Amino acid sequence: MYRTLFSLVLSKLDPERAHHLAFLVIRALPAVGLGGLVRRFTAPDPSLAVEALGLRFDSPFGVAAGFDKDGEAVLGLGDLGFGHVEVGTITAIAQPGNEKPRLFRLIPDRAVINRMGFNNRGAGVAANRLLRVVRGRRRRPVLGVNIGKSRVVAVEDATADYLTSARALAPVADYLVVNVSSPNTPGLRGLQELELLAPLLRAVKEVAGEKPLLVKIAPDLTDEQVERIAGLVVELGLAGIIATNTTIARDGLSTDPAVVEAAGAGGLSGAPLAERSLAVLRLIRASVPAELCVISVGGVETAEDVQERLDAGATLVQGYTAFLYRGPLWARQINRGLLRLRRPLVEA
Ligand code: FNR
Repeated sequence: MYRTLFSLVLSKLDPERAHHLAFLVIRALPAVGLGGLVRRFTAPDPSLAVEALGLRFDSPFGVAAGFDKDGEAVLGLGDLGFGHVEVGTITAIAQPGNEKPRLFRLIPDRAVINRMGFNNRGAGVAANRLLRVVRGRRRRPVLGVNIGKSRVVAVEDATADYLTSARALAPVADYLVVNVSSPNTPGLRGLQELELLAPLLRAVKEVAGEKPLLVKIAPDLTDEQVERIAGLVVELGLAGIIATNTTIARDGLSTDPAVVEAAGAGGLSGAPLAERSLAVLRLIRASVPAELCVISVGGVETAEDVQERLDAGATLVQGYTAFLYRGPLWARQINRGLLRLRRPLVEA
């Protein structure tokens, strides 16, 4: 049904407007008292629960950063069956993001290109909102908070800027993520260089205190860079790595090159990212201890994809782009599919 709705209606709407409409509905679920009802239909089977980062996740599958930039729909997303929601990227200073249009569908590739540019209302606003979520009595998913550099802050001053966000948001987060891998903030990905990354992570870890701290990396790093960052994460005693963010590559696409060209600069996500994302996961898993949390994200569409990531050593898996193509029951489909894959004899 969602496929028909998508091809007849949603795909004709401007992608950001379509996202906004869907977002409003998800955000409203708990507010209009429908959350509990939906949950009965979507709640993950208890056998899917995962213990990681000292937390209990109802499902290994969660929503990647960027879907809920300001932490407004955490409960609604949990009601849809996601085991965790990573909100953000949140910056210390509120910012509007890039000019629209800034989100483009590549339908033949089941992909999108975005150059949103960290549009968000800032760490202070998000902290107040998330405090209500974590203090509330409603059942909620695990809450990750992803922080990035404010656009107006120079790269040389990035650490202080991240620390402002970390101070405001670590207290309301179940886990905190330093994002140094989005392609739409000038200079941000340069922070993946070890001599810049090490002091940044050390400083944020100090502020995060007991809260698990992870770093999110780009798929465009070389294998050696990925291994070096994995080594640094272990050396600094961080809780984990999230791999990967969107790619600036445009290889192997089926979409008309003129359409890709017209979309312009930005990060590519969705199916074309799957191969590199899986390869980066394998690289990381081969070079870190088993107990380090590795969250795999990039191009996951089906329960088989999620299971493949788990089998390759992912502790948890996230997705975003396929949510736009597959619709609100996507997490339920993944959770049901995981159960089927694990209990083939029961189903037969
Ligand atoms: C993203 N992503 C993202 N990541 C992040 O760390 N901070 C962010 O603000 C955003 N924003 C964002 C916006 C949009 C429109 C998209 C499509 C993606 C990246 C996202 O979290 C994920 O890493 C990639 O999209 C790869 O996963 P999928 O989409 O292929 O499942």
